[in-house]
Amino acid sequence: MTSLAVLNTSQLVTLGGLKRPRVATELSELGIIRDGGMLVCDGKIEKVGPSDEIEKNAGDAEIVDAGGRVVMPGFVDAHTHLVFAGNRLDDFERRARGETYEQIAKAGGGIWSTVEKTRAASEVDLLARAKKYATWFLRCGTTTVEAKSGYGLTLEDELKILRVIRQLKEEVRLEIVPTFLGAHAVPRELSPDEYLDVVVTEMLPRVHAEKLAEFCDVFCERGYFDIDQSRRILSAAKTVGLNLRGHVDQLTNSGGAKVMAEMGATTADHLEQTDEQGIAALKKANVQPVLLPGSVYALGSSHYPRTGEMIEAGLAIVLATDFNPGSSPTPSMPMVLSLACTQMKMSPAEAITASTVNAAYSLNRGDRIGSLEPGKLANFVIFDCQDYRELAYWFGAPQTYSVYVRGECVSRSGGL
Ligand code: NIG
Ligand code: FE
Repeated sequence: MTSLAVLNTSQLVTLGGLKRPRVATELSELGIIRDGGMLVCDGKIEKVGPSDEIEKNAGDAEIVDAGGRVVMPGFVDAHTHLVFAGNRLDDFERRARGETYEQIAKAGGGIWSTVEKTRAASEVDLLARAKKYATWFLRCGTTTVEAKSGYGLTLEDELKILRVIRQLKEEVRLEIVPTFLGAHAVPRELSPDEYLDVVVTEMLPRVHAEKLAEFCDVFCERGYFDIDQSRRILSAAKTVGLNLRGHVDQLTNSGGAKVMAEMGATTADHLEQTDEQGIAALKKANVQPVLLPGSVYALGSSHYPRTGEMIEAGLAIVLATDFNPGSSPTPSMPMVLSLACTQMKMSPAEAITASTVNAAYSLNRGDRIGSLEPGKLANFVIFDCQDYRELAYWFGAPQTYSVYVRGECVSRSGGL
């Protein structure tokens, strides 16, 4: 048995308490233990409490002296596109000159350009890139990510990406939850309906048979998949037992949030254009919104989702990076916290709940990760600050001191 005693924190931010996603004023309850400590045994949390009490119970446990720093659960990033080849530097520069996401896509950039590069890349190459990004996530204090396919758009290329995700899980300490996003765009060689047939009759059965994904996602947007097409894909995915997520109402309000509610999805993601009817539908069906301010920011927009209304309506908000080469090239949850507080007017506490425990529930892992409570995995981060609000406040300054997954130190930077 290997044991750790984490001592001398300024704040042990436990997020302990309710065994369900947090809503309304619960979003602000972080369960902070000042001068807290934590006992870890065989990768799991055994006890949390005042540091001096934990010290008394430490026995021969290895001591991790937090030195008066903040200790929190590792971030759970519930929306990433982790596996792709190349980059989108040209799109980035075009956007800086004033072109929009849609104009750039029409001119040969956008998702399609990443698809071409990803198709041409070998599994070995994709794996090497993804490993590098996995290291970035850990360094930012993220210990679990959801990872989508979606830059292959043929049966073999989508399977290739999902297999890379599976291999990555074996080779890195970052925990990964796979999502099938075959319906990310319509490939040039097929009509939308022809491609839908491929997704439903060829891809989904293979993804299911090879157990390559837990969730199915769709990009429901003008020029990508409309409401009816999205419904067809999501229904087929549900039939094979996948849980549902969706990119909806990002660029236009097409009623995507309502479709996710109608389909009984776990999450509806983006929602920048969702109106009060969409919010009410999500509430009624208990769908968790996954808000992605990094993509709003990186696209040069200021049209953030109606976050205050969503909180008021009682939705169990999640925040995530949307890490991808086109619209959100950041692995940093602290950056997302900053955007949530400055642009979406969330409090630092609400933002932290949304990026830890609520995110864990949105990945069906609320019983194992997302908070520091006895029985949960010892996935935690020591940040080089004394107050959790500093994470959202010092934007752009790396504050990660060390990162632990299942009680093992997987990244150490020593802080600022
Ligand atoms: O979440 N909206 C669709 N998909 C991504 C963008 C992907 C890309 O541009 O490569 C997103 O923003
Ligand atoms: Fe996305």
